[in-house]
Amino acid sequence: MNIGFKKFGCSEGDVAIISLFEDKLQTPNSDVNSILEYVKGKGSFLGKFGEVYNFVRTIDGKTQDMVLVGLGKEESIDAEKIRRAVGKALKKAVELKSSKVFLRLVDTDKIELSLLVKAMVEGAGLSTYTFNKYKTDNKDKKEFEFSLGSPNVDDIKAIEVDKYIAEANTLVEATILARDLVNEPANVIYPETLADEAIKAGIKYGFETEVFEKNQISDLRMDAFLSVARGSKKKPRLIVMRYFGDDQNKDRVLGLVGKGLTYDSGGYSLKPNDGMVTMKSDMGGAAAVIGAMSAIAKSKLKLNVVAVVAACENMVSGKAYKPGDIIGSMAGKTIEVLNTDAEGRLTLADAVTYIIRKEKVNEVIDLATLTGAALVALGTTTTAVVTNNDKFYEELVKASNISGEKVWQLPAFDDYKKLIKSDIADLKNIGGRNAGTITAGLFIGEFVEDKPWLHLDIAGTAWADAAEDYSIKGGTGAGVRTLYELAKARS
Ligand code: BES
Ligand code: MG
Ligand code: ZN
Repeated sequence: MNIGFKKFGCSEGDVAIISLFEDKLQTPNSDVNSILEYVKGKGSFLGKFGEVYNFVRTIDGKTQDMVLVGLGKEESIDAEKIRRAVGKALKKAVELKSSKVFLRLVDTDKIELSLLVKAMVEGAGLSTYTFNKYKTDNKDKKEFEFSLGSPNVDDIKAIEVDKYIAEANTLVEATILARDLVNEPANVIYPETLADEAIKAGIKYGFETEVFEKNQISDLRMDAFLSVARGSKKKPRLIVMRYFGDDQNKDRVLGLVGKGLTYDSGGYSLKPNDGMVTMKSDMGGAAAVIGAMSAIAKSKLKLNVVAVVAACENMVSGKAYKPGDIIGSMAGKTIEVLNTDAEGRLTLADAVTYIIRKEKVNEVIDLATLTGAALVALGTTTTAVVTNNDKFYEELVKASNISGEKVWQLPAFDDYKKLIKSDIADLKNIGGRNAGTITAGLFIGEFVEDKPWLHLDIAGTAWADAAEDYSIKGGTGAGVRTLYELAKARS
């Protein structure tokens, strides 16, 4: 994203975006103020949250579009509202065919400058994201140029602002990387190519990537992972990404695990067509951890993080695993497979065992598009969380308050654990119709060996069926910014 603070002035843009509070409907510019009085009198723009109004003006002899966006009352402003309002305004600017965008820094002391600048840059960068590469008439794709400016910021503050812009830029880039990986179809992104993308990101941003092939995965006895992978012609890959930014505390390592089903047909418990068409997105957890590792490494955060993705496809064939099979796992536990569409938890069980036993992490966060039940429970706005550690969850909540990505904890009482005990094996891979997100999470919890653990079910949040204020239909990049903020708070 091409952005700087006061890189160009307000009148040099082909659009100027001004975000305004309902109870502070004025600017330092008298021409604009008379327009504001006029539209307020008419009732066509009152500054209510999300309202957008645009007109053309001539300033310093130059004509440009001006987009006004409402922020609501100043007392109830937060960073996520800024992100959404700026996102909305940018969508209007795109409609107006603008590409050189001046953003006026929101005038408020209700939000810390760092959070304010980040929210504005994230809102702008994420809302102008497109995924048009497969449209053949998309030859002259528009590059946006942004400038953030304010008459109230002196030169010393400006240096600070530039630092916040750079951080936000990194987060936008990492989120877009995750969105792209999710939006790429499954005939382009499959385990081998997903691993290639992780390697590329590692080289670009500064983390190490190791990729294990099928025989190495067999040597590790990852039977649960391999059972899921067996039906596909595309060979599985175990992708391990390592970032050591804190040499003094080499034995303190945060573990991230991302579900990496590059396609989930359901296997023999086949999904109906409608459920299958978006299942290229079943590697949203993998995309999130690759994006987060990129942002963490690029920002050179002072902590150690290892991320693992057990990448495979869930397909139907003469070799595929079947409902009724009893399979093993790297941890040694046996699993009765009652539904081959509950495949994610099988791959995650082995990935979690691997990251704990081989990478020696102290804590684990897993992200997975795991259950349709998460959508039923919380819809598309909130990520469901299952955990064995309330302190760790508090850390996540703090990170989520900064990123604006909502999370909500589900109960994990022992009563639910009974639902995944099998009559003939140690565990079964489904817990019945009820409490589907909890039992799926607790299945993974059976493999965390008492390590502090957070499970994020992003089935509802990783994919948008329709455009939202700062995302489009498709992959959202859910989790990237929250993981980064959690890591940053530790560094
Ligand atoms: N990948 C799906 C979950 C999913 C559903 C993600 C919808 C995004 C949108 C997962 O592998 C799955 O199929 N889960 C089953 C579990 C069931 C068989 C216990 C589900 O949710 O139906
Ligand atoms: Mg499935
Ligand atoms: Zn799945």
